[in-house]
Amino acid sequence: MATIESILHENRVFPPTGEFVRNANLSGMNAYETLRQAAERDYTGFWAKLAKQHLTWHKPFTRVFDDTDPPFYKWFDDGELNISWNCLDRHLTTQADKTAIIFESDEGEVIHCSYRELHSQVCRFANGLKTLGVRQGDRVVIYMPMRIEAVVAMQACARIGAIHSVVFGGFSAKSVHERIIDAGASVVITADEQTRGGKRHSLKATVDEALVMSDTNPVHSVVVLRRTGADIAWQKGQDHWWHDLVSQQSDVCEPAWVNAEHPLFTLYTSGSTGKPKGVQHSSAGYLLGAMTSMQLVFDYHTDDIFWCTADVGWVTGHSYVAYGPLAIGATQVIFEGTPTHPHPGRFWEIIQKHKVTTFYTAPTAIRSLIKLGADLPGQYDLSSLRLLGSVGEPINPEAWMWYYTVVGQSRCPVVDTWWQTETGSHMIAPIPGAVPTKPGSCTLPLPGIDAAVVDETGLPVGQGKGGFLVIKRPFPSMLRTLWNDPDRFRNTYFPADIAGGRYYLAGDSAHRDQDGYFWIMGRIDDVLNVSGHRLGTMEIESALVAHPLVAEAAVVGKPHEIKGEIVVAFVVLRENLPEDQRAVAIAATLREWVSSEIGAIARPEEIRFGENLPKTRSGKIMRRLLRALARGEAITQDISTLENPVILEQLSQTV
Ligand code: WTA
Repeated sequence: MATIESILHENRVFPPTGEFVRNANLSGMNAYETLRQAAERDYTGFWAKLAKQHLTWHKPFTRVFDDTDPPFYKWFDDGELNISWNCLDRHLTTQADKTAIIFESDEGEVIHCSYRELHSQVCRFANGLKTLGVRQGDRVVIYMPMRIEAVVAMQACARIGAIHSVVFGGFSAKSVHERIIDAGASVVITADEQTRGGKRHSLKATVDEALVMSDTNPVHSVVVLRRTGADIAWQKGQDHWWHDLVSQQSDVCEPAWVNAEHPLFTLYTSGSTGKPKGVQHSSAGYLLGAMTSMQLVFDYHTDDIFWCTADVGWVTGHSYVAYGPLAIGATQVIFEGTPTHPHPGRFWEIIQKHKVTTFYTAPTAIRSLIKLGADLPGQYDLSSLRLLGSVGEPINPEAWMWYYTVVGQSRCPVVDTWWQTETGSHMIAPIPGAVPTKPGSCTLPLPGIDAAVVDETGLPVGQGKGGFLVIKRPFPSMLRTLWNDPDRFRNTYFPADIAGGRYYLAGDSAHRDQDGYFWIMGRIDDVLNVSGHRLGTMEIESALVAHPLVAEAAVVGKPHEIKGEIVVAFVVLRENLPEDQRAVAIAATLREWVSSEIGAIARPEEIRFGENLPKTRSGKIMRRLLRALARGEAITQDISTLENPVILEQLSQTV
């Protein structure tokens, strides 16, 4: 086996193309170049062709692209379609009995759900939502366990043109509350509890708490799936059991034919301020991105068993669980539990049991699985696998190699997919069979995606030089705006100083090597990536300073072997620097506090107390210095402005 060093050193492409090529029409770099050039020659024509090929239109579009009001671009905007119809109904004539979802619960119960059954469930639930008064354009918050019903809820919203906003089940009541208020949601869909890794977590109780956090809230109905049968509080008139809601409903539900630009969903994600952003996606352009990438990047074939391990609470679970696989007519696995429960081989067992061909997960999961048993995959029959995907954070070459050689037995290409909540679907990723891979690089932009690395004015940087990752031309699956906040949308993603506001600014830094391959270096803003989840440092800081004991707080990321990054919080208390025991107690309180304010994923792993924070003369917190302190690195910054250098000593100590 070649070592990582030798591969990186020689900069050999890896693996060689050809051996795994099922992408019959796309073998070799020539195929990639042909597609790329086709998109370059006739950009809108390229996308129009795909939109006709992949989507079924109720009313065909005649206008492909509208850029009269930049950056509020529109695609296919005089066309009409329905996303749920594209994901379900159109398969009924050809493959109604094909399994759409193989569901495996936390406890190991397996349910096969065909396209016909899924369609029927979606129609009944959509009719149920209508009886609650949900209309086209209404907002519905979904706070659900990772079960078939989560997909049913999303598809049912799409069917009637309601705009869903899924909130990850690990978020706190306060986070649920903020999203309900910002979205102006009239209905919440949830479950009594969720079960993950053998542990139960309440969902309905959290929703109840969220709903009383302000005097008024826009929610009139809560739909509750019975998952564990736990005792829950019940508010008559407001709360409805899922099974009661659908029991009398017809399984026919005429879809709402919506405009191509109708918002399919909003999904809140962290940015560089304290307030999460409601990323708003379109219908047609979004689905087109999801389908095109299912075909190109996952090289979809009809007999595939596709498994994306992401929760529907994140964008990956939207594009590659709830929409993409269904739109293309795939069979997919949905798993409710965790990778290591009840044993560390659970993921491999699922691949073996359901004969998964295409496996898509995050580097964090890969790294923790290596740690738990680097040779465990060898104990399972993983011969069904033919393609491996990675998403959410940079994958380090060591993890890539293990994934490729041990999990994929050096047979399966690894597709490292770079994209974001905002881009809706893959942007930079290898097309297996056409684009050779290199461990640690997401390779080349997909055809029709004009990605570049530029300086702070928008000019290209040279080969090997770091810069801002931008996408120079609007593409169909990009976000349309931020919910209720068009100014923030423009300022965040199309800043005027970069190429006059014409480029989409991703918020990542990157460089390109001599082959033009992209290497993602990290975020350029104050966004952390903890276990593949985006967290805003400002959000965590605001949570900390909201605690009565805290006077000031600053949060930075620290590299971590498994999680990629961990949260380190520097805190100034309202009281004097605490003694050891009290410090430990306060740190525990603050961890819990952040958990309850945002969610357990934001909990600071390390807390350090000081009498003050290091600041510049103008009063700005010296974050670079804090980052160095968090990493235990030597201080190279100019600290002459510090009034009291003793605080550096204090802030070096982790409680
Ligand atoms: C990071 C997840 C390197 C990046 C789909 C991006 C990646 C942010 C990769 C988006 C990758 C995602 N290589 N970094 N393959 N994929 N990222 O919105 O910093 O949760 O900006 O979307 O994750 O995270 P989000």
